[in-house]
Amino acid sequence: MTDKVNPEIELRIAYLRRDLHQHNHRYFILDEPVISDAEYDRLMKELIELEESWPQFSSADSPSARVGSPPLDKFDTVAHSVPMMSLDKGFNEEDLISFDQRVKKILKTESDILYTAEPKIDGVAVELIYEKGVLTMASTRGDGLTGEIITANVKTIQTVPLQLQKNENFPIPALIEVRGEIFISKENFKSLNEERANQDHPLFANPRNAAAGSLRQLDSAVTAQRPLEIYIYNVSDATVLQTNSQAETLQKLKKLGFRTNPLILSKVPLAEVTAYYRELDSKRLDLAYEIDGMVVKVDNFEDQQMLGVTSRSPRWAIAIKFKALQERTRVLDIQIQVGRTGALTPVAHLEPVNVAGVMVSRATLHNSDEILKKDVRINDWVFVQRAGDVIPEVVKVIASSRNGTERQFVMPSECPECGKPVLRDEEEAVTRCVNDECPAIIKGKIKHFAAKGAFDIDGLGDKLIDQLVDRKLIFSYADLFGLSVEILKDLERMGEKSAQNIMLAIEKSKHISFARFLYALGIRHAGEHTARILADAYDDIKSIAAETAETLESIEGIGPIVAHSIVDFFAGTNNQDTIDQLIKSGITIEKVKRITGESTFMGMTFVLTGKLETLTRSQAKKLIEGAGGTVTGSVSSKTDYLVAGDSPGSKFDKAKTLGVIIINESDLKNMLVP
Ligand code: IVH
Repeated sequence: MTDKVNPEIELRIAYLRRDLHQHNHRYFILDEPVISDAEYDRLMKELIELEESWPQFSSADSPSARVGSPPLDKFDTVAHSVPMMSLDKGFNEEDLISFDQRVKKILKTESDILYTAEPKIDGVAVELIYEKGVLTMASTRGDGLTGEIITANVKTIQTVPLQLQKNENFPIPALIEVRGEIFISKENFKSLNEERANQDHPLFANPRNAAAGSLRQLDSAVTAQRPLEIYIYNVSDATVLQTNSQAETLQKLKKLGFRTNPLILSKVPLAEVTAYYRELDSKRLDLAYEIDGMVVKVDNFEDQQMLGVTSRSPRWAIAIKFKALQERTRVLDIQIQVGRTGALTPVAHLEPVNVAGVMVSRATLHNSDEILKKDVRINDWVFVQRAGDVIPEVVKVIASSRNGTERQFVMPSECPECGKPVLRDEEEAVTRCVNDECPAIIKGKIKHFAAKGAFDIDGLGDKLIDQLVDRKLIFSYADLFGLSVEILKDLERMGEKSAQNIMLAIEKSKHISFARFLYALGIRHAGEHTARILADAYDDIKSIAAETAETLESIEGIGPIVAHSIVDFFAGTNNQDTIDQLIKSGITIEKVKRITGESTFMGMTFVLTGKLETLTRSQAKKLIEGAGGTVTGSVSSKTDYLVAGDSPGSKFDKAKTLGVIIINESDLKNMLVP
């Protein structure tokens, strides 16, 4: 019935096009979206489906016929020899099944199709051209046909080969154009923003923006400072590598020296793709980088050829997205939370909304300047965002949804926790409670001290710390080491056994690397990154305490704000006393040397014990051996490091007796990261 004119359909298509044009403009040009990405995707999907069912209404200027945004005029542009297409989108397992059915129908087969399933990294798509094995041009996708030339910037990325590797199986092609995704890992993104905050530079909203912003630098020296990475996933012309499948292409790309994603699953039937989709979705927040879905490609190139492409995207591939990490909801109230530095953080209490499977009812608003900047008011409609282990945040207000019932938030003049007057720190745009005895500050400091990147005390959770402080059983983190089973066992939700376990965890935490020790102290502005720099530059805490701000500033990576904050910290007699008390309670601070370059661990012997945080034993072993170290099964006087996870057992005690340096997983990783 497709040739019969249907006025309702025609109207709907026209409406969707106008709507989507508007949303594109708002998103790409004005940076002021009024709908979530998920809603946008739903509208676009509807339009595409209608256009496909009613081809008589197709139009060259439909928003569905356009990929990406046109390049700005800052960089030179280049036409891609093969257009950089977009991918069709699906949103769930049903969409994956219909894709599989569509593929089978076109290929006229009933047998299983084999697919490649890949993480869809949320970064920036690029094309790299190698002539006679040398990188000669890198460009962005641009509008799909023409991109911007960013060769100098891309050359600064360590994971982009400047020359291709030779191998025995096939020659380096005279000309090869590869495609991939440039991104910044979540951890590097955090450090980058930490550094930017130190230097009073505006922060990036997310890793993708940070990657895109870094690639758009006119001065490649700036780009070189940014922790960009790449994964290559395609060649523009498959005949160049003389391969007949995506799996084989990926293998050859790897042989040529390209970085390909190790999580890619090759040559699997639909059932395994489905399982992979679930697995990726469940671990996406734990991955080192942000992904927003899975890309599924028909593996066999002959099949790909047969399936062909539409004007916009290949018929042999689909991106199955995950649920968006941004959703729309309403601000019911704005309340104050007092943190470990005494900073009063406004928190938005929200109408609960399901963001990618998790109910979100609170989101941080950072500080009062941020509220002013974003102009968030009580009763406003907003976008909230979840990103990894970070607390959800309010991203943007939807000002067009206001109806006059919105109320402005006013910062209180007294601390809501202890009632003492608060101070406004103009320089930092922060309002602070400056009462050292404020219970909220004490609790916050202890929680930070006991947390993962710091003393990592297993089982000592927030609720327990709240109880200990509220009952005046402890007044500082140093008091943790004076706790006993007797004190702990009578607390709520505790008992003899849990109390014993916590005491064991406290005992175990006493072996700590210098970097984690410094981080645990909670020196303002000194995050994990700064702590590592300090631990490398100094032998002990006394030498840091004796430094002036000027000398500290001369260390690379330490800015004036951090330097002054360190000096201020050690000037406080309370802090000095607390550190003395810590040392007296038998803490041993391990000076872990960071050695860089190849064969980092050459000649060193490691023993692994207990359950590590994210790595399996064999992954940790590979990591150590990859850096030239040896992993043995038992601790002896020859052991250099014991890598201890949770419930470490007898190897831990033996290492302690023999004076072997005890580290945890994050120390191990830090030793390897330059
Ligand atoms: S294949 C014609 N594979 O997703 C096929 N794309 O909407 C082109 N992306 O522009 C892309 N990871 O930025 C492909 N493993 C992957 C990907 C991937 C991320 C991005 C890429 C592309 C967009 C497609």
